[in-house]
Amino acid sequence: MSELELEIPVGLQALLSRSSVGPKHLIEPGPSAAQLRLMAAAALHAPDHAELVPFRFKVVRGEARQRMAELFMQAALHAGKDAAGAQMDAERALKPPVTVAVVARIDMGRPQVPAHEQWACVGGALGNFLSAAYVLGFGGKMLSGAKVRDPLITAAFCAPGETLLGWIALGTPARPAQVRSRPLSPEQVLQDWPAA
Ligand SMILES: Cc1cc2nc3c(=O)[nH]c(=O)nc-3n(C[C@H](O)[C@H](O)[C@H](O)COP(=O)(O)O)c2cc1C
Repeated sequence: MSELELEIPVGLQALLSRSSVGPKHLIEPGPSAAQLRLMAAAALHAPDHAELVPFRFKVVRGEARQRMAELFMQAALHAGKDAAGAQMDAERALKPPVTVAVVARIDMGRPQVPAHEQWACVGGALGNFLSAAYVLGFGGKMLSGAKVRDPLITAAFCAPGETLLGWIALGTPARPAQVRSRPLSPEQVLQDWPAA
């Protein structure tokens, strides 16, 4: 049976149509506490060798957004941006209705589960979180930038030994998501081994 003849199950249709929606196109309402809980529950279904759960999500909503905006402004000034540039960074923090910081806690004392396996789990968790947000009707985009390494910002989001991966901007999409074509086709990533 060819791919065209295959009936695509509804759950898979969602995975095949998800695209990121940037903060510029996100409006209120953001996800509720119960909806965020579902996203975290989906993240917890990522493959996770030895159940280390090497990730945490820090939800920034309500007045905490202002505090994050001030941190972003300080980090921008620290990085040498001028006042206007720093103000733009602060506004970026305020734009999404909800922001979720993604924090990795990689346990280097696990020879059976090396760091790359734990990072794979963090990536799987992030993908599941974004897919759950999409299925619930929200737009989202994972963002990072140099500020994830700013000492003030990392101290604010991470415990010692943790790494700040970045932030997921979340909200209601102001317009239908632009479905982005993918850089490679399924045939290009699905290869027989050994190669003919
Ligand atoms: C860890 C991580 C950090 C990212 N940081 C940024 C970023 O700072 N700016 C950006 O435009 N895209 C960033 N991206 C990529 C976007 O989140 C998104 O995946 C990309 O724009 C492709 O869109 P799509 O999800 O619709 O395929 C990041 C992705 C990951 C996984």
